[in-house]
Amino acid sequence: MTSRLPIAEPAQVRRAAIALFRADKRAVAAILVLNGLAAGAGLVGPWLLGRIINDVRAGAGVSTVDRLALIIGIFAIAQFFLTRYASYVAHRFGERTAAKVREQFVDRALALPAAVVERAGTGDLTARGTNDVVAVASTLRDAGPVVIIAALQALIIVAAVFALDPLLGACGVVGLAGIAAAARWYLRRARAGYLAEGAANSDLSEILAATAVGARTVEAFGLQQQRIATCGAAIEECRRTRIRTLFLRGVLYTSVDISYVIPVVGVLLIGGVLHNHGIVSLGAVVAAALYLRQLSQPLDTILLWVDQLQTSSASFARVEGLAPDEPAAPAGNGAPKPRPIPVDDRIELTDVHYAYDTGHDVLHGVNLTVEPGERLALVGPSGAGKTTLGRLMAGIDQPGSGTVTVGQIPVTDLEPDELRRQIILVTQEQHIFLGTIRDNLRIGAPTATDDQLAAALNVVGSDWVADLPEGLDTELGVGGHQIDGSQAQQLALARVLLANPHTLILDEATALLDPTMARRTERALAAVLKQRTVVAIAHRLHTAHDAHRVAVMEEGRLIELGTHDELAAGKGHYAALWHTWHGEPATTTTMSNKPAASGTITDYGRAEE
Ligand SMILES: Nc1ncnc2c1ncn2[C@@H]1O[C@H](COP(=O)(O)OP(=O)(O)O)[C@@H](O)[C@H]1O
Ligand SMILES: [Mg+2]
Repeated sequence: MTSRLPIAEPAQVRRAAIALFRADKRAVAAILVLNGLAAGAGLVGPWLLGRIINDVRAGAGVSTVDRLALIIGIFAIAQFFLTRYASYVAHRFGERTAAKVREQFVDRALALPAAVVERAGTGDLTARGTNDVVAVASTLRDAGPVVIIAALQALIIVAAVFALDPLLGACGVVGLAGIAAAARWYLRRARAGYLAEGAANSDLSEILAATAVGARTVEAFGLQQQRIATCGAAIEECRRTRIRTLFLRGVLYTSVDISYVIPVVGVLLIGGVLHNHGIVSLGAVVAAALYLRQLSQPLDTILLWVDQLQTSSASFARVEGLAPDEPAAPAGNGAPKPRPIPVDDRIELTDVHYAYDTGHDVLHGVNLTVEPGERLALVGPSGAGKTTLGRLMAGIDQPGSGTVTVGQIPVTDLEPDELRRQIILVTQEQHIFLGTIRDNLRIGAPTATDDQLAAALNVVGSDWVADLPEGLDTELGVGGHQIDGSQAQQLALARVLLANPHTLILDEATALLDPTMARRTERALAAVLKQRTVVAIAHRLHTAHDAHRVAVMEEGRLIELGTHDELAAGKGHYAALWHTWHGEPATTTTMSNKPAASGTITDYGRAEE
């Protein structure tokens, strides 16, 4: 269906995770020290209990036992507070880091080329931005700190058993091998399992979103059953992948539960034998057994979260998949790269080739220079590549080979705010965002003052804004003030005016509007076009007639270029078309010599005449 967005390799995920910890070294150090102290305090209890047993056997009095018991109590309280403070520090670290991951994701998602998002489908991006980022964030906030704490505790406990008696320590470690084996078995399979589950979730969101967005089309074509079948299959795939991960968890938990008992039993058995031979004290055996019993607590915690760690490392791989390939190399000697600034307003296309994912070139070596202040009409049949060329000129897509420059700088090298001042592509689709009118206008010029906004609205004839009770503060969009299509167009044009680019590319910008609306919008458009270079992708030939030059495209090539008079006087495609159009009141006509039945109906209808 779609090619998915990339997924980060395990090594890349590891690097990214380490970088997150590095970024907050002090917090990480504080977490480790506090937890080390807490775990140390926790060890005192069993050790003193062992001492009590040994002392009592040696005939110690009640006062000694009381004193030791009091110390046990003090250390228990100390452990409680140290643990509380450590987890407070850890959670703050987790929350900060989660925020970082979120911000980074938004930056990266916004930096993705539009073509990549289109190809991958928004479902995948949405799933990553919601489910996956939430999974990573909650791991950083909850699982991460807890697991670090537990791992530290487990290590210290094992070390303590070894300190009591190396033989007892060894037998504990052997018993733990069972847990390690189960964990290994699980971890080997889990990554693939959870990645499959994530991909199935993405597919399901994608399919559901597409069905909802295309509901009208589904109705119109009676596709309900087909969509239901598709959704059903996606749900089944989700279920299958979930059952798989559930099975993995089932095996893990069961074997771990059994493995816990083994080291404790082992220590008691072997410890008993050793004690009978007088090799270890009874106190040491009891303390070691208690330690190993204690070990189940941090290990349980780790295993409880290992699952979430696994899911979220798969999620993190999907989130990190959006990272740029090169980990943003520090430019040269650390000095930021100078921002390229165009030397003039001339747009030059040199041997431009472009291919969509389908592979074959849709532009075959286009050469074109647009002079500052020029009005160029770009005409040609549907599918000739006009829109594609417009997108390349506006720096939205990058040519496969060849160059598109403005003032000798490749347009795709320009920073977005610089590009906005150079060239803007205006299409029929101009989105009004949720927010106030002011917010919507400032998209083109973030620093514009209210006076400037009012002036721009005035130029495009939007007097209605001033009449609104809340003026520029009026909320637009769902639940807010409703505006009609021509008002939306006016706002879009005001936005362009505020960005103040020297060149506008109009891709059939008013083609779909109804005639009364188009006339109003055209007046606004005329005001916006004043003193700018204009490339008009035209569907009506009178636009071409009024232009300084006309470029005719066909099948990805520029086949004619000249003034209207030159071309109309010649014998080329344009002349043929012009005479047909001008001579007879035909509503549509074909551009090429091919019969209309071949499907190349042109855009040159006289829709409004
Ligand atoms: N997103 C896309 N993916 C694949 N092919 C595309 C895409 N957009 C356009 N094309 C193809 O590129 C060619 C040029 O399209 P386009 O630039 O839209 O032509 P025009 O604007 O002149 O009608 C057509 O063959 C079209 O099918
Ligand atoms: Mg087009």
